[in-house]
Amino acid sequence: MNFFIKTFGCQMNEYDSERISYLLESNGYKESADIYKANIIIFNTCAVREKAKNRLYGNIGNLKKLKSKNPDLLICVGGCTAQNLKEKLLKDFPYIDIVFGTHNISELPELIKRKKSLNNNICSIKEKGSDRFIYKFKRYSNFKAYVPIIIGCNNYCSYCIVPYVRGKEISVHPDKIIKHVKKLVLDGVLEITLLGQNVNSYGRDLTSNCKININFSKLLKNISGIRGLRRIRFITSHPKDFSDDIIFTIKKNENIAKHIHLPLQSGSDRILKRMNRRYTAEQYLKIVKLIRKEIPKCSITTDIIVGFPGEDEEDFRQTLNLVKEVRFDRAFTFIYSNREGTEASNFYDDKTLKEKKIRFLKLLEIQNKISLEENKKLIGKKFEVLVEGFGIKGKNILKGRLENNSIANFKGSKKDIGKFKYIKIIDTKTFYLKGKLCK
Ligand code: 5AD
Ligand code: SF4
Repeated sequence: MNFFIKTFGCQMNEYDSERISYLLESNGYKESADIYKANIIIFNTCAVREKAKNRLYGNIGNLKKLKSKNPDLLICVGGCTAQNLKEKLLKDFPYIDIVFGTHNISELPELIKRKKSLNNNICSIKEKGSDRFIYKFKRYSNFKAYVPIIIGCNNYCSYCIVPYVRGKEISVHPDKIIKHVKKLVLDGVLEITLLGQNVNSYGRDLTSNCKININFSKLLKNISGIRGLRRIRFITSHPKDFSDDIIFTIKKNENIAKHIHLPLQSGSDRILKRMNRRYTAEQYLKIVKLIRKEIPKCSITTDIIVGFPGEDEEDFRQTLNLVKEVRFDRAFTFIYSNREGTEASNFYDDKTLKEKKIRFLKLLEIQNKISLEENKKLIGKKFEVLVEGFGIKGKNILKGRLENNSIANFKGSKKDIGKFKYIKIIDTKTFYLKGKLCK
């Protein structure tokens, strides 16, 4: 039996798909990259914006024909939209066989067996709890790995659905993380990315419930001491929990990548308050200033939401001003998307989508100009990159990631993949650099 898995959304979902693949393979199923050769199709879904849900609905709609040709085909939908919509998914698409949630991934092989013997559709969702076997996953890369350290989110930003679909924060025990990372390094992994909806609040639950004296900067310090681990990344941070200690830990440890993704969301204090972000623009700037002072080469990237309910011209101007002042290396910009069940979905919203799009394009224009200008400063300089694979532009063009998380394309050969190499930057676009391998 072959299975095909498609992942929507963030890195946490990518990791969950690695877990699903591991679970199914250890139960005798084989992964196929071709949806048409699969007996089981799994969609691992995202719910963060309406667009993600619409895309999913389009994708599930397209499966109807496949299912009518092959009634034995099993269609399974998991992840955040499954957790959010539950039985509604089965109502909207009666040909879905299994809906499973974010808290019971490890049940999937069991659910598939049950479905085969019972033959009715199954919706199995748990409302909370930590799933078992968190560190059993399929390795798609020999040299890179995701390592979840905290699952869930307690923040309830007023626009965000994540706390409702991922549950309360649960930190993984530090000993378990260290043991796991050591094993990855022994297996040849050079770079890890620590994952969490808010990695900076790591350990809070362990300290209050289990009296374990740990926090994110201590964990980072301990992980960076693992011999042979070349690069450590982490996402995502929250400005309200981003301590000075974290900055000094990044500064002092060579193998912690000099890149911080620090979502701003808005530059207006009034909007930040309505978003329930619990920091002000000034507090955000204070963190940025300390990063710039202590680690001048550190890149800072961000997320920004445009058109949050009640955002007026002045609020938006403040966002633009902050973007110009900070000069982010890159920014992921989003138009606010109303998520049913969140606090903000009850807020009065007087702006049309057209008005929001105009603001969005204005922000994009300013940020793209800054990104290009910042990239140009790198031309002529030498950087170490981890070669991740082939780039998009032809077969002998490789793709490598700089410490600052920028991508560079350069000529090279297959044998360079999975290695650290030095390149010189020779040109740049807004979203990627062009380089040349150094001899
Ligand atoms: N609308 C638009 N963007 C959102 N994000 C989260 N929820 C929403 C929403 N309802 C954005 C935030 C977050 C990123 C992952 O997605 O900027 O940091
Ligand atoms: Fe959502 Fe806020 Fe939690 Fe991030 S910190 S996952 S934006 S609720």
